Amino acid sequence: MSLTILVTGGAGYIGTHTAVALVEAGFRVVLLDNFSNSDFSAVQAMRSLVDQEVPFYEADCRNKSDLLRVFKTEKDQGFPISGVIHFAALKAVGESVAKPDLYKSNNIGGTECLLETMKEFGVHSLVFSSSCTVYGEPENIPVDELSPFLPSESPYGYTKQACEKLIVNHAEENAEFSSALLRYFNPIGAHPSAVIGESPRGIPNNLIPFLCQAVAKLRGPLTVFGTDYPTKDGSCIRDYLHVMDLAEAHVKAICYLFETGKGKGCRSFNLGTGTGVSVLEVIEAFEKVTGQKVPHTLGDRREGDVVAIWANAERAKEELKWETKRSLEQGLNDSWNWQQKLSGKSGL
Ligand code: UD1
Repeated sequence: MSLTILVTGGAGYIGTHTAVALVEAGFRVVLLDNFSNSDFSAVQAMRSLVDQEVPFYEADCRNKSDLLRVFKTEKDQGFPISGVIHFAALKAVGESVAKPDLYKSNNIGGTECLLETMKEFGVHSLVFSSSCTVYGEPENIPVDELSPFLPSESPYGYTKQACEKLIVNHAEENAEFSSALLRYFNPIGAHPSAVIGESPRGIPNNLIPFLCQAVAKLRGPLTVFGTDYPTKDGSCIRDYLHVMDLAEAHVKAICYLFETGKGKGCRSFNLGTGTGVSVLEVIEAFEKVTGQKVPHTLGDRREGDVVAIWANAERAKEELKWETKRSLEQGLNDSWNWQQKLSGKSGL
């Protein structure tokens, strides 16, 4: 019988893609989401891509009785949860500055409650959705997992650092528990079918959703935040990886915990391509691969942005046997196909 994996935040961008990858790898998948930044159509779309019944629970990780209901129902039906991939969190950096308490209660409180529930049900394997934001403005690039947590630029970043520490403490106190802390760089793209993708509510904060909406004329021009940084062309540098590659990393991470990580505590992994790309280079690559002009203006720096960061992802390559397979161009093209589908203009 296949093992059951609970995916929290399972209606979200990375959650839906990971759910598909898990089913393809032979796992039974259960989704949980509170729809704070998603809706049921994402669950339906995800389900349409797989040949498996995927149970869904509308539940909030801060609510213990919600979590107990999920773990208990699955267990009573003969499908005890074997491992958890925890995505459920708020992730808008700007909003976190305005609402720090909400970010703390949601991201840290939700993780605390999940760890407690996992313990009560004897579930010992957790893949945690962390971020390169834990490194702050790193002293050395590419950044590796041994780089220290520098003071966080935002309450959002602080919650990722705090959750990692919470999970490390939990592992120290619970000998059987183990966790993979996955530090993502910048996920882009969508499933090649364009059936699932990223659907931010309101004005997108992140580069690629805003860029796609600007090209689709749903927004005004994209503002390039800062062109006077000490980088090759003055714009910020990031490491953009395809969401399908990222989804596959989660499958490798849960397998790693089941196979080799049992009771081994926590291990952090950077997930990125290892290549830094500037905002202006992203625009150029998008125009080249899609043939669409990106309306954009050169603007001021955005508060809280780090200048440049990209991954040393050697540890994931060696220990998880994972590396990115898809190019920046593929990611941008898939994002654009998804945007066209959303705007109803595509022949897909
Ligand atoms: C940040 C965090 C990341 C987190 C994510 C959540 C860092 C290094 N990264 O990503 O860990 O998961 O937020 O939202 O802290 N840009 C523009 N114009 C726009 C939007 C963005 O020029 O309209 C630029 C930004 O200045 C940045 C790049 O595009 O240089 C990427 O920005 P974004 O997509 O928002 O991601 P990060 O800020 O890197």
